[in-house]
Amino acid sequence: MTGTYQSVSVVGLGKLGLSLAGCLAERGFDTLGIDIEERVVNLVNQGRAPWFEPGLDDLLARNAGKRLRATTEHARAIEETDVTIVLVATPSNLDGTFSNRFIEAALRSLAEAFGRSGKPYHSFVISSTVMPGSTGESFIPIIEAHSGRKLHQHFSVCYDPDFVALGNTIKGFLEPDLVLIGQTDPDAGARMKELHHRLCKNAPAISCMSIVNAELGKVCLNAYITTKISFANSIANLCEHIPGADVDSITRAIGADRRISPHYFQGGLSYGGTCFPRDTQAYTALARQYGVQAELMNATVKVNSLQDEHLADIVLRELAGVSNKTVAMLGLAFTSGTPVITESAAIKLIRALLDQDLRILAFDPLATDNARAHFGSALEYVDSPAHGLMESGLAVLTLRNSAIKDAVETFCPKSTLTVIDAWRILDPTRLHQRIRYVGIGQNTESRPAKACPTSSRS
Ligand SMILES: NC(=O)c1ccc[n+]([C@@H]2O[C@H](COP(=O)([O-])OP(=O)(O)OC[C@H]3O[C@@H](n4cnc5c(N)ncnc54)[C@H](O)[C@@H]3O)[C@@H](O)[C@H]2O)c1
Repeated sequence: MTGTYQSVSVVGLGKLGLSLAGCLAERGFDTLGIDIEERVVNLVNQGRAPWFEPGLDDLLARNAGKRLRATTEHARAIEETDVTIVLVATPSNLDGTFSNRFIEAALRSLAEAFGRSGKPYHSFVISSTVMPGSTGESFIPIIEAHSGRKLHQHFSVCYDPDFVALGNTIKGFLEPDLVLIGQTDPDAGARMKELHHRLCKNAPAISCMSIVNAELGKVCLNAYITTKISFANSIANLCEHIPGADVDSITRAIGADRRISPHYFQGGLSYGGTCFPRDTQAYTALARQYGVQAELMNATVKVNSLQDEHLADIVLRELAGVSNKTVAMLGLAFTSGTPVITESAAIKLIRALLDQDLRILAFDPLATDNARAHFGSALEYVDSPAHGLMESGLAVLTLRNSAIKDAVETFCPKSTLTVIDAWRILDPTRLHQRIRYVGIGQNTESRPAKACPTSSRS
């Protein structure tokens, strides 16, 4: 095949795939989304987002029924589009490797449709996170076996992983720092490069390489970021023991060095979510498969889990000096801007506090329903940070969220309240004098602060 792609299909309209499909449509591609979930397909066709992701509702409302259509029929990807991007889930196996079963099922459906069609050529792109080696060992043989067609002659395959973060997926697709394209032949890689040039609003670094190097690159990038997070957390923990030390002063300053960079270098909570913890496990599983030591990755994972214990220790230590043992958890999601609670530091802390039979008032701007589905009536769910603060002796802030920050900074407690600020978003000088401030990664004593502006709030 020659020329650029005009029409694109995205198989898997999940947390990533739907954002990608919306972005492709927004940037002018005739886009067909495919998912096995009829509910998702129907909502997309109505221009409605099935879950919250910043900007997704608007993207779908603008493009659905025009440049974006959705279906449950895989055959339409072959019939109606030039290239098919497979972005389905790759759940973790017990040994930490990723399972390819959803990709393989999707490829079987696509390949059978390709075999039945009279279409001379089709381009396949895998975008899900996979164990290195998967494309060559499994995906290409599946397409050949189920279509009766030959790689190079009838189809191409690329591996094009995503580096976007939940809560920021649309910007992540439209303005990535980098794009990796694993290619089976230079023409297929060049067409994907052209697709990214058109999709991206910025000019990312695009690297074309062999398939296996792109598969490895995806796992290695997240392995590096998690190591950086664990390093920042190690600095934060050290700071807590050294009078006057403050992790932000250090990471902000040394993060200005280009060899380090300030991103994901703050110190506070463990990393979580649907990606980082799984990707680190996959990296160690990969090393194990090849008999290679992965001591650095092992240390990263261990530091991450110690950070959860560390947070629980701080909360329990502070609670020991508080008479009202009710805890307000302000933030439940694993990061800001998403309802996802998978591997969230807040959720792990809640489990530790429930083990101590503590009463917990939980607030999150987006994740309350997911937390309720997980914890049921073990928690009490409040509709505002202020409601949580009013009934608690201690509050834990786990999100970088301006509404939570404002609520705490304007709150006038009736009795002493301890606030533990994981990301140090609060300005301690703006806090009421009855609030004892504890910043993770800082060695500070509680400071005298402002009084209530009106007596009615004291
Ligand atoms: N979530 C993240 O932050 C993130 C970031 C980078 C990469 N990734 C990787 O991207 C991939 C997708 O992740 P996600 O979070 O979007 O997953 P998800 O679970 O949110 O979505 C997967 C979607 O695929 C659909 N699906 C499953 N089998 C299908 C089939 N045969 N045909 C069509 N649709 C099918 C499901 O119904 C679901 O809607 C994974 O490999 C993940 O590791 C995720």
